[in-house]
Amino acid sequence: MLPAYIPNPAAALLGGGTPIDLGKNYSDGNRIFGDGKTYRGLITGILAGVITGLILIWLAGQFPQEDLPKHTLLSISLLATGALLGDLVKSFFKRRFNKERGTKWPIADQYDLVAGAFLLLLIGDSGWLFTTVTLPVFLIILIITPVLHRATNIVGYIFKVKEVPW
Ligand code: CTP
Ligand code: MG
Repeated sequence: MLPAYIPNPAAALLGGGTPIDLGKNYSDGNRIFGDGKTYRGLITGILAGVITGLILIWLAGQFPQEDLPKHTLLSISLLATGALLGDLVKSFFKRRFNKERGTKWPIADQYDLVAGAFLLLLIGDSGWLFTTVTLPVFLIILIITPVLHRATNIVGYIFKVKEVPW
């Protein structure tokens, strides 16, 4: 899951500048995505996830006897891109519910990246998804994702990368 987990914190660290919606509003008068979704965050976040995945592929080659997850260029790209597309779609619906940028939206804020990553994998490489993400693996992901999400956001808040600790 690291290629899907890394893009969000990477975007928080490296993002900023021109928002993806170019500052435009939707028909309801709220922003389409908001200032928290930028081109730089999207691109650097996906790149960071892919680089993480390349390191995992290299590691798996170094330790063939360890039975590490068999990543491919496709699986890491879909995980990284899906994570931030899920985050983007989440923000679109967050604005439709009149929730301003940075406000809390439980469940959606935590699982957007999992939903996005798995949806892209389902479309682009369902064979990899079903052989790698078995039911016990899926349950572990459901448990550790909100824990990791909260922990990284608290760290981000302490180091002043994030404005709020969620
Ligand atoms: N970020 C970015 N581009 C993205 C995603 C994130 O630049 N595509 C950066 C922004 O600086 C953002 C920070 O990462 O503020 C944290 O991301 P997130 O918590 O997803 O955004 P929020 O600001 O909370 O906005 P939203 O309410 O839409 O989730
Ligand atoms: Mg947020």
